Amino acid sequence: QPHPSESKVILALDQGTTSSRAMVFNASGEIVAVSQEEFTQLYPQPGWVEHDPEEIWATQNAVMGRALLRAGLDWSKVAAIGVTNQRETTVVWDRETGQPIYPAIVWQDRRTADICQRLQDEGLEELFRSRSGLLLDPYLSGTKIRWILDQVTGAQQRAEAGELAFGTIDSWLIWKLTAGRVHATDATNASRTLLFDIHKGDWDDELLGLLGIPRAVLPEVRDSSGFAAPISCPGIPSGAVIAGVAGDQQAALFGQICNRPGLAKATYGTGGFVLLNTGSTAVPSANGLLTTIAWRRDGKDQYALEGSVFIAGAVVQWLRDGLGIIRKSAEIEELASSVPDSGGVHLVPAFVGLGAPWWDAQARGIITGLTRGTSSAHIARAALEAIALQICDVAQAMEADAGMQLEELRVDGGAAANDLLLQTQADLLGVPVVRPQTYETTALGAAYLAGLAVGFWRDEEQIAAQWQMERRFDPAITRGQAQQRIDDWHRAVARARG
Ligand code: G3P
Repeated sequence: QPHPSESKVILALDQGTTSSRAMVFNASGEIVAVSQEEFTQLYPQPGWVEHDPEEIWATQNAVMGRALLRAGLDWSKVAAIGVTNQRETTVVWDRETGQPIYPAIVWQDRRTADICQRLQDEGLEELFRSRSGLLLDPYLSGTKIRWILDQVTGAQQRAEAGELAFGTIDSWLIWKLTAGRVHATDATNASRTLLFDIHKGDWDDELLGLLGIPRAVLPEVRDSSGFAAPISCPGIPSGAVIAGVAGDQQAALFGQICNRPGLAKATYGTGGFVLLNTGSTAVPSANGLLTTIAWRRDGKDQYALEGSVFIAGAVVQWLRDGLGIIRKSAEIEELASSVPDSGGVHLVPAFVGLGAPWWDAQARGIITGLTRGTSSAHIARAALEAIALQICDVAQAMEADAGMQLEELRVDGGAAANDLLLQTQADLLGVPVVRPQTYETTALGAAYLAGLAVGFWRDEEQIAAQWQMERRFDPAITRGQAQQRIDDWHRAVARARG
């Protein structure tokens, strides 16, 4: 007699920076079906990045139906829905009409650098850091909300009158999926706004006051697992429930079963993000990392240290769309492997400034070390190395902050398919890099958070037993050789920062 959950599935919605995806997982944590759709990236000015919130919803809505269709299932088989999302990206909409009052300002967008500078000049960085765990950087949502309320006529007054709603992409999707009945976020997404006291686990009136953001725009903050928002959406029969919500990097940490202090993962998505579980302690960073909520379960917050690298997979997209030296992203591995090294070329992909550990909004990308012998293959190799070197920088900062040595790094995300990248990562880090069977761990983590809440999975032990290593990459160069490459890289970074 099969357990009832065996014929049911969990549907994970993974709304990322460049595409909306839906994945159907069975009780063994295996992917049954996937559907994915890219959407438009808007670059209205240098350093600005926007999305159309309605297009985000339309693509997400389309892929979830398609994924179920591909799995040959209908909604009655969906035990619960998990939502995971690109974090920090900011939407402000009209509560009455449900219409956004401005495009979504994406996490990569730098337009609020001067607002951040002003707050820094007023000596407020330490206050924001100690309460929210974050730095004053345009990356985080708070200054993006401020910008929209300043720039859209009448928005501040309307926000104060309770007519507007703010949300990160999770809240926006949940609003859409519940026909505006639920305006909520989870603690991980709240912890990326600059407005949330991560120690008290609640919005902070002083930080809100400093940014002039009225409480009336904020979503309610719920558990990451046990979210309990019933779906109310055309085409979906009643009964389906959103039971898990988490920002994509925190979901990946959960999906990699990094559920104990000391376990870390790196996700190679559009950006690259290393998160280290620090358990019930919020560890402050002295080395340019962020302190963030890993997940909230049963009302209790777990914390993580995070190194956020803005450009990882996006550099490969740039080789494809900007330079045109590859036709498909996957081709980078073959091109980069056709040369033994980068021939002295360094590419610093500071396209939107630099995130951790440098936090330099003004830095811009450069390529150094070009000679007559430089080919597209050297540039491709330098691009891959740049991904690994940036992850290395944040991993080292993490070891310094946490006062411990990494024993291994679990990796996931699209670019984790690239063996050359992972070998380079192991070489530079000097510790094994481990790739699991399922490296779509972002969606898997959201599925786990949802499934645990509804009893689809019994407990963490059961899901931990599903994690399986696919391949391990061991360091193959000496520490001296690695250090030489890291030193050369830092010289190039210094030049990108001007
Ligand atoms: O903080 C931004 C992050 O959540 C975006 O993730 O996978 O879309 O690069 P990704």
